Amino acid sequence: MHDFYYKNGTLHCEEVAVEDLVAQAGTPLYIYSQKTIVENIRRLEIALAPLDPLICYAIKANSSLGILHLAAKMGTGFDVVSLGELLKVRQAGGDTHKCVFAGVAKTIHEITESLKLGIYAFNIESIPELERINEIAGNLKLKAPIAIRVNPNVDAGTHSKITTGTYKNKFGIAFEEISDLYSRIASEFQNIYIRGIQMHIGSQITQPTPFVQSIQKMVPLVEKLRDLYNIEFFSIGGGIGIAYQDALQSGSHEWWQGKGADFMSPEKFAQAIIPLLQPLGLKILLEPGRFIVGNAGILVTEVQYVKQTPQKNFVVVDAGMNDLIRPALYDSYHEIIPVEEDLLQETFKADVVGPICESADTFCQDREIAKVEQGDYLVLMSAGAYGMTMACNYNGRPIPAEVIVNHDKADYLRLRESIQTTWRYEGIPEWLLFEDEKKQSQTGQPLPVTEPLPESPQE
Ligand SMILES: Cc1ncc(COP(=O)(O)O)c(C=O)c1O
Repeated sequence: MHDFYYKNGTLHCEEVAVEDLVAQAGTPLYIYSQKTIVENIRRLEIALAPLDPLICYAIKANSSLGILHLAAKMGTGFDVVSLGELLKVRQAGGDTHKCVFAGVAKTIHEITESLKLGIYAFNIESIPELERINEIAGNLKLKAPIAIRVNPNVDAGTHSKITTGTYKNKFGIAFEEISDLYSRIASEFQNIYIRGIQMHIGSQITQPTPFVQSIQKMVPLVEKLRDLYNIEFFSIGGGIGIAYQDALQSGSHEWWQGKGADFMSPEKFAQAIIPLLQPLGLKILLEPGRFIVGNAGILVTEVQYVKQTPQKNFVVVDAGMNDLIRPALYDSYHEIIPVEEDLLQETFKADVVGPICESADTFCQDREIAKVEQGDYLVLMSAGAYGMTMACNYNGRPIPAEVIVNHDKADYLRLRESIQTTWRYEGIPEWLLFEDEKKQSQTGQPLPVTEPLPESPQE
């Protein structure tokens, strides 16, 4: 589902012209459609209604406070992977009791604070983690709710950097060890409350088959755990893929079609998994991230130069891999279109590249795109997930602004960072200063090297 389309020759997000937003907020600029996010959540909820699901939005995909607030208002739970994410959910008005806490490296501090706040479950990734949680819960005189993250050893057939459910990956505990582990937890871990079981096989899965295969593998185990330990939920993780290609050509708002006509829709996904899951009689959790926000966001960038060489045309834009790292990290495809529709009349083959001093700072290579010139605006489509959350200050570049559109209204979700704030937590040790600068020392006294470093400043 998406709500970006050409109207009167210019790209719109819902009822607002992208060029108007850019005129006010500048570039690079993330723009999100509220309607798309709402409809994605609704459509998934409706398709899966027979399972009485709890949708735990995986906030690593996009953790903008405003988007979290929107999801919270719609009643979703959340999948978090750090205390930072958990506190952000709370800040946004989300219910921590509807949060699952995943991640392979939960620290003592993170576990302690999460237990004090109260969460739905820790998704356990290793036995040492379980032992640590058991001990901390005991000290706090609490019982920690947990689900073991099962590694089902099913290859979801996605890019190697987003596959998580095989024994080559660092995630979860091997399928074969799960039965014995639950029995050990029940007898030895006094401060653990077995609440459920969880799996997550990977991301950007575009067909039901890997879900079906892994659920089929899990069902006998889940039935056994339900009967022995009265578990309350089975989380099938996230990973529902989205179409990244043919965004506008489909002629409708149905991006599910993608390039292949049988691209997985929420209904098709639901149809495949409901018959396997419904008989379990358990609460079914899902942890979708990309599906909720991926096609709800775009990144708008301004062409700085068109550099023509005998070998190639380079369209140099003002967005870089520090703003959207997916193409550099995973070779991801983002459709690239102009804000002004008539620029599509003439095309040329070009690499679209950013300003960063890395060859990986390339959004596409030798792609037929609109024949743009300096000052034109280009749009990287489907940039709502794993875009802004991975943005960084590399090459001294401020984090971009984010805007959300609701029908004919638009507002900032995040202001553009100023250049000065990119070094706000940095200081210069006194001994490095020139004599006349010493009175302005930013860090104060030198630290005795035997002392632990102070905690990093909190916002
Ligand atoms: C445990 C877990 N759940 C959910 C997700 C969200 O995945 P997606 O955005 O593909 O739905 C991830 C992604 O890495 C994950 O690791």
